[in-house]
Amino acid sequence: MAQPVRILGFVGSLRKRSFNKALMRTAQELMPDDATLEVFDLQGIPQFNQDEENSPPAIVRTLKSKIKAADAILIATPEYNYSIPGVLKNAIDWASRPHADNAFDAKPVAIMSASIGRLGGARAQYHLRQSFVYLNMYPINHPEVMLPFAQENIDQSGRLTNEDTRRLIRQLLEELVRWTRKLTGKA
Ligand code: FNR
Repeated sequence: MAQPVRILGFVGSLRKRSFNKALMRTAQELMPDDATLEVFDLQGIPQFNQDEENSPPAIVRTLKSKIKAADAILIATPEYNYSIPGVLKNAIDWASRPHADNAFDAKPVAIMSASIGRLGGARAQYHLRQSFVYLNMYPINHPEVMLPFAQENIDQSGRLTNEDTRRLIRQLLEELVRWTRKLTGKA
């Protein structure tokens, strides 16, 4: 029996009824049998201050240790002003510092996004991919999970009702697990 691939997820929206939280819950439902997903809530992470990067607040130390312990990362994010939300960028900035202790180094990563607009958060995803270069992460390229018109595809109970997107999320998770096993040599 293969060792499970441990995935750490976080969501770039703090909103209670967030569509992107719904995508992350869907990923939890659809997780392959040989992988686990723990979701870290970014609520409460203070604003990054480089003066504190060598002795960060406790919540940041916890975030960094969970990222380091994970085999792979899964991010669900909204698009804010054609880019990623400050909440997500702030968490990434903390976890990537100090430079010699970048928690994301060499981690495989997959992205999902949901938006009320017609592009489903595509622009945010491509900005995030740019940061992955500096972070030295290995993003999954296909499938791209971008849910447009989220308000029509996630119901009042927060369930993703769009079957096509559910299928893509399952495929994305399978790819993340497959590539993580290749990159880490995890049997
Ligand atoms: C948005 N929204 C948005 N949508 C989009 O497709 N492109 C964008 O650039 C923006 N910009 C933007 C900025 C700010 C500050 C907010 C609050 C919202 C709308 C966005 O898609 C919508 O609020 C989603 O519901 C946000 O995701 P969650 O919170 O539901 O996960």
